[in-house]
Amino acid sequence: MTVVDGGRAPQTARRFSGQITATGSPIPIDRSELAGLSVRCMDCGTVTPGDRPISLCPVCGGLLDAVIDIGSPMTPASFGQGLSPHLARSGVWRYRALLPAIPEAAIVTQGEGNTPLYVDDRLAAYAGLRAGSFGVKHEGHNPTGSFKDRGMTVGVSHAVAVGAKIVACASTGNTSASLASYAAAAGIPAMVLIPEGKISGGKLAQTIAYGARVVQIEGDFDIALRLLRELTASHDIYLTNSVNPFRPEGQKTIILELFEQLGWDVPDVITVPGGNLGNTAAFGKAIDEAYAVGLISRKPRLITVQAAGASPFARYFTSGWQTYEPMHAETVATAIKIGDPVSTPRARRTIEQTNGYVTMVTDAEILDAKALIDQVGIGCEPASAASLAGARKLVAEGIIGPDDSVIGILTGTVLKDTDAVMQYHMGDDADGHRRQLANRPIRVDATLDALARLLDTVIEAGPVATDNDALAGNV
Ligand code: F0G
Repeated sequence: MTVVDGGRAPQTARRFSGQITATGSPIPIDRSELAGLSVRCMDCGTVTPGDRPISLCPVCGGLLDAVIDIGSPMTPASFGQGLSPHLARSGVWRYRALLPAIPEAAIVTQGEGNTPLYVDDRLAAYAGLRAGSFGVKHEGHNPTGSFKDRGMTVGVSHAVAVGAKIVACASTGNTSASLASYAAAAGIPAMVLIPEGKISGGKLAQTIAYGARVVQIEGDFDIALRLLRELTASHDIYLTNSVNPFRPEGQKTIILELFEQLGWDVPDVITVPGGNLGNTAAFGKAIDEAYAVGLISRKPRLITVQAAGASPFARYFTSGWQTYEPMHAETVATAIKIGDPVSTPRARRTIEQTNGYVTMVTDAEILDAKALIDQVGIGCEPASAASLAGARKLVAEGIIGPDDSVIGILTGTVLKDTDAVMQYHMGDDADGHRRQLANRPIRVDATLDALARLLDTVIEAGPVATDNDALAGNV
C-alpha cells in the first residue's frame, strides 16, 4: 500500500513494530519447533513431551512441572540478551533463559511485568518491622491489573504453539480477565467458568469486555474448576488454570524480577496470599532454580497467607502435613475464596524447600491492612493485603524476626474490587469490628463559608483520615 502526501512522491506506508504487536489470528507453528518443551511429574518423575495441551501426568495423574535447563551456571547478564526488543521489554520474557522454549512466533505478550517495588515505612511500622525493611512488589501494575498476566502470557503462548482451538479457565475473576485479554490478542476463543454472583463487578466487566464467553456456574469456584477439568479430560480444550504446568512458569518471574530489583540479594522472607496456590508453587520453583544456577546464594523463606475462611492449606500445615481437608470457602477476599486448592502438593514442596510457613488471617485483619496500603497511596485489592496482614501477625507471634527484611506480594490493583472499598469506608461497623481507617466523604453546605471553615480543620487533622464525620461536625 502507498500513501500520497501533498504533492510529494508516493511512499511505502509505515508499519509499526510495537512493543505489543497483535495480529488477531494465531500463527501456525511446526510441531518440530516444540521439541525443546517437556514436563515432569512431581510424583513419579515421568518426563512427557510438552508439544500438546497437558495438565496431569499421563502415567500416574500427578501434577506436572515444566522442565527447565538448569545444568549450567547463570549470571544476571543471562537475561535480556539476544532477545527481540519486544521480548526484552517484557518483565516475563526477558527471563527467557529460565522459561520453557516456546517458539518466538507463538509468543503473545503485552509487555507484562516490570512492576514496582514500594518501600514504605508506615507499612513496616504496621507490620512491626524496622524502617526500610518492609516492601511490597505490586503486581497490580500489569496490563489487566493482576499478576495473572505474567502466567497468562506463557500459558496462552503455549496454547498458540500447540495449535489450541479454544482456551478456558475457571476463575474467581482475575484469571478470567487476564485470559480474556490474552486470548483476544492471540485471536483464540476463550471460555471462562465463574461462580455466579461471587466475583467482583470490575473483574466480571473486564472479562466480558475483552470478549470471552462467560459461563456462570451455580456453585463456587471449586465446583467450577472441577467441572472444567472433567470437561477438559474428554474434550479438546486448552486449560489455563495453574494446574497447567506452563502458566506458573510466567509467575516465576515475579520472584526473578524481585531478586533483580534487589541486586540479586534476597530478602529474609517473602509473604504471598494463597488461594489456588499457583503462586506459592511457582515461587518455590523460581527460588529453587535461581539457587541451582547460582543467581542467589541463599533462599528466602516463603510464607503463604490464607484467609481464615478459606484456609485448607494453612490447616494442613498446622497439622504437620498430616491432615488435608477441603472446606467450604467464605471470605471477603473473593479472589482467594477457594476451599480445595489444586496446587496443594506443589505448594507444600515450596514451603518445605524454603523452610517456609503458612498462616491465616481474618477478614477484619485483611480489610484493615488493605485500608492502610490504600491510604499510603499504593492501593490493592483485598486478597493482596493478606501479605501485610500475615506479616504483621507472624511478627507478633515471633515467627518473623523483628530484624528480618520482608517483601509482601500485592497481587491485584485497588480498582479490581471497588465494592470492598465502598463497604469499608461507607458501610457501618455491623460486623462488630471498628473500621479504624474509614474515610467517609464529608458533607457540607454548598457555601464558600462552610468550605473555608472545613479547610482549616482538614489541614489541622493531617493526611491520615481519622474521623471525617467529626471533622464535618466541626463545621
Ligand atoms: N490474589 C489475587 C488477587 C488473586 O486473584 C488470586 C487468585 C490470588 C491472590 C491467589 O493466587 O491462586 O496462585 O494462590 N485468583 C485466581 C483467579 C484463583 O481465578 O483469578 P494463587
